[in-house]
This record gives sequence, structure tokens and C-alpha cells, in this order.
Amino acid sequence: MTFKSIRGTKDILPSETPRWQYVESVVRTVFHRFNYKEIRTPVFEQTSLFARSIGELTDIVGKEMYTFTDRSDDSLTLKPEGTASVIRAFIQNNLGESQPLVKVYYLSPMFRQERPQAGRLRQFHQFGAEAIGSSFAETDAEVIAMAIEIYRQFSIVNCELKINSVGCEKCRPLYKKTLQTELRKIALQLSPDSQRRIEENPMRVLDSKNENDIRLTASMPLITDHLCEECSSHFEKVKSLLTSFHISYIVDGRLVRGLDYYTKTAFELTSNELGSQDALAGGGRYDLLTQELGGKPTPGIGFAAGIERLMMIIEKKKLLNDLDIHPTIFLAAADTTSRAWTLEKTIALRTQGIAAEADFLNRSLKAQMREADRQNAAFVLVVGAEELNKQTAVLKNLRVKEEREIPLAALAKILTE
Ligand code: HAM
Repeated sequence: MTFKSIRGTKDILPSETPRWQYVESVVRTVFHRFNYKEIRTPVFEQTSLFARSIGELTDIVGKEMYTFTDRSDDSLTLKPEGTASVIRAFIQNNLGESQPLVKVYYLSPMFRQERPQAGRLRQFHQFGAEAIGSSFAETDAEVIAMAIEIYRQFSIVNCELKINSVGCEKCRPLYKKTLQTELRKIALQLSPDSQRRIEENPMRVLDSKNENDIRLTASMPLITDHLCEECSSHFEKVKSLLTSFHISYIVDGRLVRGLDYYTKTAFELTSNELGSQDALAGGGRYDLLTQELGGKPTPGIGFAAGIERLMMIIEKKKLLNDLDIHPTIFLAAADTTSRAWTLEKTIALRTQGIAAEADFLNRSLKAQMREADRQNAAFVLVVGAEELNKQTAVLKNLRVKEEREIPLAALAKILTE
């Protein structure tokens, strides 16, 4: 019997990990520049945390969560997103007590049982950030600018930023009623999913990807025309800040995110380099979430981005192709006695901070030279009985095809230089 990875999961192979590590380091660098600090939360949580925050009626909670009962009969769920866990940790650890604004970021696997396709996995990875404690539009703009800056680091500058305001508890209920009344009039012509949503969450009908739904709902009232004074001026402020940051955006009054915790600002970054799963990142404000989860009322805003989707663009554009981990030096042995010396020296060089490799498979000198080449070593040193006798050997620089004789005792010093 052979085993295969679970459908919708992927091995990230040694040929790919240098790119992942590089991307992760760039993401961290940008977050640090914006003064966000890393938080790491467990991979599973109480199921009710997600039901409460993301919303019982969302697709994620309704049909995509990996939920299981453990041996103590507790219902647990592999995290489908990061915000709920971060807010849980914020409340549990009183993070808001010592500082008015908590700015955290995370890189983590997430789990959703969706239908796998290009750019959509069941275990995927996100980087994301949350700013907890500011109700000000300045933070909305900062978070959006930060997301865009990360893509700019990879020369991905042509993504589209869509923004909307989904209102608050004051204006949204009234708008929902108005929309519901209009939608009921055309209910029978809509897709089954949209028909169901008219009663459950009418705003999601406007977010339908079904062509016919889109056509039928083209002239429906939009939330942007029904915002209360506070939401409206907040939205205006966000837009003018984005303009002052030289960030272009499209106001999309139909943008409703698939998670129920949002209030006011919602946004998405999409790329036409991706196929049908074109969302690179998404986020928004969640001013009621902390109190919803039992904490003191604290506003918040954040975003998360799919790393696999960023990788798809990086691969498509052939960016970061030259990243590789390779030995600085390959110590090749010309005979059996010198083989012992090369192994010993290799270990010693490694403890001195030098990436060294030797032959551990008893191969011929010719095969060792081929291996040094395949490993893309910067230098190769061939050592045999004669070299050990004279205590000197020829150091070949494989990059510039130069060689020079050096004393063996000086090897580490020369390589460090
Ligand atoms: P989300 O829109 O559900 O938001 O996910 C954010 C990003 O994760 C998406 O734009 C996409 O790039 C990636 N993603 C989502 N599902 C998959 C999947 N099945 N396979 C591959 N990539 C995927 C959130 O998760 C919110 N927590 C964002 C947020 C943070 N809002 C406020 N703070």
C-alpha cells in the first residue's frame, strides 16, 4: 500500500522551500517596518469560537470547517482563518491592558474543506495582520498600505484594490430590509444559493459569482448609498487617506466578504494573473468582534493573504528563481585516506559557520566533482595523499573558474574572507 497526501493539501518540496522562506522573510520585514509584532496561536480552537465570530450562516462555518470531537468529547476545529484566534488571544491575555493599540501579524496554515482547484486548497497558508484598538480611518489606510507594500516588494504592482463600507449596526439593518424587499421580488429567478441568502444574509446575494444573479441584481440598492453619517464620513476619510498615500482603488458597493464579523471598511486585493480564484488578500474592520467574543468593546481592523496565490504569481513571472541553498565549499577526496580527512574537515568547517559538503557515498573523484557542480558549490578543494603530505591544496572557485594553491590550515580563514 502506498500513501498519498490528502486531497487539497500539498507538499512544499526542497526545491520550493527557498522561495517560501524568502517570501516569509520579506513579509516579516514589511510587518516589522510597520511596527507589527508576530503572534502565534494554536492550530485548533473550540469550534464555537469560529461559529460565533465568522458567523453560523457563512459557507466557512456551514460547510467548510474541519471539525472533530476529541477524546474528552470537546468539539474542536482546525483554524479556517486567523482573526478569531487572534482576538481570542487578545482577550485571554489582556493584551489591550498595557497598550492602547495592539498591532500583530501571523503566518500560519489554515484549513477549509473547499473544492480544490488552482489557487484553492484545503490546507493553505496565510500571512495576515490585525490592529486592535483603533477606530480611526488612519489605521484602515495603514493596514491597506501595508498589504500593498508587501506585493510591491515582489514587483507585483498591478493588483486591483476594491473597497467598500458594509456599514454598522445602526445603518446596516435598515439597508438589509430595503435590499431584502427588492430581492424578494426577483427571488424565483435567482440561483438556489442566492434564494437562500435573501433571508439569511441578503448582502451576500450581491456578491454572487453567478452571471445571471449579477445581471438580475445590477440595479439593486447599494449599501454605499445607505450608510449612516458616521460610516459615511469614516469611508470618505479612508478614501482620502488612500489617495494621499498614492494608492488607487475602486469602490465596489457589491463587495461583501464571506465572513460576518465586518463593519465599515471591507477590502479585497485581486490580480488578473490568477485564474478564477483571483483574490490575493482580503480584510476589513470588525469593531464589534471583540465584545462579541466576550472582551471589552475594542475596535479592530486587519487583513489576510493567501501565500500559495502569491507564489503562483511569483512562479508565473519567474521571480526568485535564483534562490537556492548551496554549499560554499565541497571537499573532494582523491583516495580513501584523504576521505576521512575531508569528512572531519567538513564537520569542523560547519562548526565554524561555513556551509561545507563532502562525499558521504564513497564515490569516485570524478563523481564527486560532478556532485560539487550539481550542488552548485562555490568552491571545491581536491585533497589526496600528496596534498595531505604537503599540507597545501588547490582551491577552485567554480564561479569565476579560478584556482590557487592554499595552505590547508588557512582554509576556514580564506573561506570566511
Ligand atoms: P479571507 O478572504 O477568507 O479572509 O482569506 C484571505 C485570503 O486567504 C484570500 O484572499 C485568499 O488569498 C486566501 N485563501 C482563502 N481561502 C483559501 C483557500 N481555500 N486556498 C488558498 N487560499 C485561500 C480571512 O481569512 C480574514 N481572516 C481576513 C481578515 C483579517 N479580516 C480581518 N482581519
